[in-house]
Parts: sequence; structure tokens; C-alpha cells
Amino acid sequence: MKNLAKILILTVLITICLGYFIEPRHATAQQSEAKTAEQVYRNIQVLKGIPADQLLGTMSFIAGSLGVTCNYCHVNPFDKDEKPTKLRAREMILMMKKINQDNFKDNLSVNCATCHRGSTIPATTAPVAHVDFNKILAPASAAPAPLPTADEVFDKYIQALGGKDKIDKMTTLILKGSNTQINGPNPPQTTRGEIYRKAPNKLMMVMITPGGTFMQAYNGTIAWRGSNDRTQEIRGQDLLGAKRDAGFFRNIPLKDQYSTLKVVGRDQIGDKEVYVVEGVFNDTAPEKSLFGIQQEKLFFDTKTGLLIRRYLEYSTPLGKLPEMTDFEDYRSVEGVMLPFTIRSSRPPFSNIQKFTEITLNTPVEDTKFDMPKKSP
Ligand code: HEC
Ligand code: HEC
Repeated sequence: MKNLAKILILTVLITICLGYFIEPRHATAQQSEAKTAEQVYRNIQVLKGIPADQLLGTMSFIAGSLGVTCNYCHVNPFDKDEKPTKLRAREMILMMKKINQDNFKDNLSVNCATCHRGSTIPATTAPVAHVDFNKILAPASAAPAPLPTADEVFDKYIQALGGKDKIDKMTTLILKGSNTQINGPNPPQTTRGEIYRKAPNKLMMVMITPGGTFMQAYNGTIAWRGSNDRTQEIRGQDLLGAKRDAGFFRNIPLKDQYSTLKVVGRDQIGDKEVYVVEGVFNDTAPEKSLFGIQQEKLFFDTKTGLLIRRYLEYSTPLGKLPEMTDFEDYRSVEGVMLPFTIRSSRPPFSNIQKFTEITLNTPVEDTKFDMPKKSP
């Protein structure tokens, strides 16, 4: 029982941490009633005035900048001032504000990431000059082939996936495998998992642990999470995250999420050459409508045509927080190419989903995604 409670707290904490979101810059009428951090949290001394919704994003930014996780500064409950690192971080926030006020017209020119670069102790040694002699000495190669247009890249992507007909006929996906969560330097946590998706926007994730089964779902209207005997509706900020993740075609036809797309160059990811495409979200894209993110970068394998990375940045009051998703190990499932490994990372958390079995278009009842009625 104790163990179960522990796992529940851990899962809830991880989901809460992963589930934060950052409000759009332009507050709507509804959001203008949003509370400030000090109205919601108990011990806010230097981050007064930031929207409460942005506190967790700010914390992720701080942790990611230092390459640590929450417990580097926090004990439970989080409002306690027990660790010297938390007190030091407060001083650093004030220092950062002063540096920017005095030198950079109050812009976010210097922030935790500028100095810390993923380490608790910023470098005081100049970096070793890194010269790639092979590159310098290589004979000048012929002029590179001209870049394709964004339309060409996307057409090739649709073809590589299996073609428009097959994609349009997709209705459900059942994915089974494991999920490993990496939380800073803590040991990774692997659980067995199942994911049910139904077009256009239903999602159910099931985590199976020795301590019990945990679920999180969105049925198109209501998001909820539950453990063996408890269920709880997800509201506010976490609801937006659930909505976004539930989009069935989020990574598939993809193109209609953007108002403009441009192939900006070639790059290398691991041993793969990629086209880098910059997309500006249109107003209905969940990234823009839910999180206020303007654009992202997409990386397509120049050989296979498949999407292998998405990269975007959230704004927080202290600086930008990157989110990167990699799609690997594509295999054909009834003629549609699907990634069997998905790695995602938003500091300080990363997550690897490895699927052992994916089934396409097996009927799944709508009621599967509904919140269970309270047992009598
Ligand atoms: C480098 C230190 C540091 C790290 C790492 C850090 N925090 Fe914080 N956190 C702070 C400081 C400092 C405050 C208080 C800010 C203030 O006084 O305005 C704070 C405040 C908070 C609060 C408000 C508590 C209350 O009720 O007053 C929460 C919640 C919180 N942090 C969550 C997190 C989470 C979740 C993470 C990991 C993603 C995290 N923090 C990582 C330094 C840190
Ligand atoms: C202008 C550079 C600079 C900026 C900006 C900066 N730091 Fe630091 N920080 C340092 C230096 C230098 C140290 C001291 C390292 C040492 O002990 O040698 C330090 C130390 C710390 C420590 C104590 C580390 C330890 O284990 O002793 C924490 C925590 C910290 N910074 C948090 C932050 C946070 C959070 C931010 C952003 C709000 C931030 N820093 C911004 C330069 C900076």
C-alpha cells in the first residue's frame, strides 16, 4: 500500500511536471483573470507577478539550465526553504534581473542558461578550440544540389508513410511497449504501457507498474487520470497538454498546421542527412492556439523522406525551454510506416517510448476514452 502511494505520488508528480504549459503572450478575456504565482503558491519571494500558470515552466527552465532536476533545490513540500541551493537560486534570479536591467534594456539577454549551460558550476576556462581538420583539408566539393521546396518535402513524406489513401483510412492505433522516464540524474523509471488512439482526437494511455495500473485519457471533451480505484478530471493547463497530445494526425499529414513552410537547409542528425524545414503555425494549430508558440523546425531524412525530428521552444518568464521529439525505427504496419521508438525531451525530463506491437484500424469503442462513472 505504501509502495502504491509512493508510485502514485511519483507518477502524479511526473505528469504534473510534464503537463505544465505556458500561456500565450496575448491573454484572452478568460486568461486575463489568471492569477499570479504568489496568489497560488505559498512561498514566492522573487518571482512575484509572473502568471501562476508559468511557474512550473519557469522551474523547468531553471532545472534544465543547470542540468538538474527538481530535488536539487526542493524537498517536499515545495514551498519549504530547506536546501541552500534554493536560496542561492533566489539570489541568482535577482542577480539576473539586475544584470539585464543595468546592461541589456531589461531584455532576457542573460539568463540561467547563458552562464550555466547545463551545469551547476559555470565554466571559467575558455573552451578548447575545436577544429575539424578532416573538414578543412577535404577537397572543396562540388556545389550542393539545390534544396527541394517544402511542398516537395511534404509530398515525399506522405509517399514515404504509405500514401494519402492509406493515411486517410487510418482510424485507430493501438501501441504496446515500454515507457522509460528520465528525470535529471535520477535512475530511469521503466514501465509497461499501452496507448489507444482514435481519430480525430481521442487518446488513452495506460501504465502498468508493479504497484498498479495508471491511466490518462482524453475523450474529445474531458481529460482525466486514474489509478486502480481513483479517477480525477484534468482541468486547466494540463487539459491543454492532453488535448494537444490527443491529435491523431499531429505527426502525420502535418502540413495543414502551418501558414508558411520553408526548407532552410541541410543538416546531419546522427548518420542521417536531413532537410530542415521551418514552419510557422497557423492560428488553429494546437501549439499556437494552446501554448502561443509561433513556429517549429521539422527535420526530414533526405533519403527516406520520413520525419525524424520536431523541435520547438516554449517561452517562460526567465528564458526559452526547448522541446524535441525524435521518431526512430520506422516499420511498416499494414502499409503505413510508423515509428516504433519515440524519444521526447523537455528539460529536465526525457521520455523514451519503445513499442513492440502496433496495430492499425482495430475497432476501439468511443466509451474506452470516457471517464469511468464513480463506483457506488
Ligand atoms: C535551482 C533551484 C531550483 C530548481 C532546480 C527547481 N526549483 Fe522550484 N523553486 C526554486 C525557487 C528559488 C523557488 C521560489 C521562487 C521565489 O521565491 O519567487 C521555487 C519555487 C517553486 C514552487 C512554488 C512552491 C510554493 O508553494 O511556494 C514550485 C511548485 C516549484 N518551485 C516547483 C519546481 C519543480 C516542479 C521543479 C522541477 C521541474 C523545480 N521547482 C526546480 C528553485 C528551484
Ligand atoms: C552571470 C552568470 C550567471 C547567471 C546568469 C546565473 N548564474 Fe548561477 N552561478 C553562477 C556562478 C559563477 C556560480 C558559482 C559557481 C561556483 O560555486 O563556483 C553560480 C552558482 C549557482 C548555484 C549554486 C550551485 C552550487 O551547487 O553551488 C545555483 C543553484 C545557481 N547558480 C542557480 C542559478 C539560476 C537558477 C540562475 C537563473 C535565474 C542562475 N544561476 C543564473 C553564475 C551565474
